[in-house]
Amino acid sequence: MSDPKKLFIKTYGCQMNVYDSERMAESLGGKGYVTTDKPEDADMILLNTCHIREKAAEKIYSELGRLKGFKTANPDLKIGVAGCVAQAEGAEIMKRQPMVDLVVGPQSYHRLPQMEDALARGETALDTDFPEDDKFETLKSRPKAKRGPTAFLTVQEGCDKFCAFCVVPYTRGAEVSRPSDRIIREAQELVEAGVREITLLGQNVNAYHGHDGGLAGLIWELDKVDGLERIRFTTSHPNDMDDALIDAHGTCDKLMPYLHLPVQSGSDKVLKAMNRKHTRDQYFKLIERIRAARPDLLLSGDFIVGFPGETEADFEDTMDLVRTVGYGQAYSFKYSTRPGTPAAERAQVEEDVKLDRLHRLQSLLSEQQYDIQKSMVGRTVKVLFEKHGRETGQMIGKSEYLHAVFADTTDVAIGDLRDVRVVKTERNSLGGEIV
Ligand code: SAH
Ligand code: SF4
Ligand code: F3S
Repeated sequence: MSDPKKLFIKTYGCQMNVYDSERMAESLGGKGYVTTDKPEDADMILLNTCHIREKAAEKIYSELGRLKGFKTANPDLKIGVAGCVAQAEGAEIMKRQPMVDLVVGPQSYHRLPQMEDALARGETALDTDFPEDDKFETLKSRPKAKRGPTAFLTVQEGCDKFCAFCVVPYTRGAEVSRPSDRIIREAQELVEAGVREITLLGQNVNAYHGHDGGLAGLIWELDKVDGLERIRFTTSHPNDMDDALIDAHGTCDKLMPYLHLPVQSGSDKVLKAMNRKHTRDQYFKLIERIRAARPDLLLSGDFIVGFPGETEADFEDTMDLVRTVGYGQAYSFKYSTRPGTPAAERAQVEEDVKLDRLHRLQSLLSEQQYDIQKSMVGRTVKVLFEKHGRETGQMIGKSEYLHAVFADTTDVAIGDLRDVRVVKTERNSLGGEIV
């Protein structure tokens, strides 16, 4: 038998791309590919790309430039672009970089095996359809091979919200939910392969409607899966946090006390211009209800500074919202103009103003994050251990609040769930002792 062909995938962007990369590798597995972490050994290199900000998209072209050398060294090497840049730019990519053999969008990658046939015939392949056939049904069941204790599971895709800054509704298409019975089946397969914690994914995961009870209904179904210990979900939109989901945060033991609930801005004027469809007060009230259900819940968020029309007073409203809410974790970005989105046409905020606001917001957010980490010292958390640390005898895992926790121990295995007393905090992690 000939050696298996080797596939190298580089993943950019959000967790949904991480999930898609796994599924693409599995799908090409049927064509005799095994994954490699060495691009120089690969027969095929796939870049699974992100289009969310200009920098993310441009990075792909510089990466493709770097890959040219591999293609010169091995003319049989196939190079493919997948993900949201593939969807947004399609055939343009091949025009700009003629050495690209394959372009596949996020809704059509279940057709990769047929596309690979075309490549084997010496053709190029392009598929950025939003096909009628169900991608998830066409994909095979998950492999039985043992895997790590945590996994992502996409339950909902696409977005109908059309925030004025965002490309996702265009690159991922309309909101679609997978039926709950298939998700449960996939969760069972993951658990059989060693998974103990599943993070449910969707661009708007709490708009999930593949179960009569919405996302909460799905979570309660997953709660019954033996061997599954922890459930998380991301990313949520404030307007889709229904009562049942809030309630589940207080009553479902497997649902972890962590919630990523982006607000983007603290100014009503900017929220309106962004088409977020809620006010800052509605967000505050929502947070109050969530915290009433689960007081120790750790909140995370996303923020955009320098959205068109944002004044210093608007920005101060965002700072004020952050001070009022208190985030344990957050991501913040300078507004990036995305062609084809409504906000791209509006008068833009100056670059140096954006940068100054970003620095001020980030220093406030990292101060909050650090304060919350300090408040964990002395407490006992439950850690799911995921990997060995850099130093021998050190293990690293995540607490229920998604803090990275390291412990010096030789008596813990990957996949163990253990009580850990937090004894110190570093910038981005906690140090603890097994109880
Ligand atoms: N569905 C999620 C967000 C997906 S994109 C939600 O609604 O919250 C992830 C984050 O990227 C967004 O929350 C936003 O903060 C940021 N983002 C999206 N478009 C952007 C743009 N044009 N410029 C800067 N940041 C952007
Ligand atoms: Fe983008 Fe808004 Fe949809 Fe989130 S809700 S993916 S920010 S359009
Ligand atoms: Fe990026 Fe697409 Fe995710 S644009 S953030 S990879 S949905």
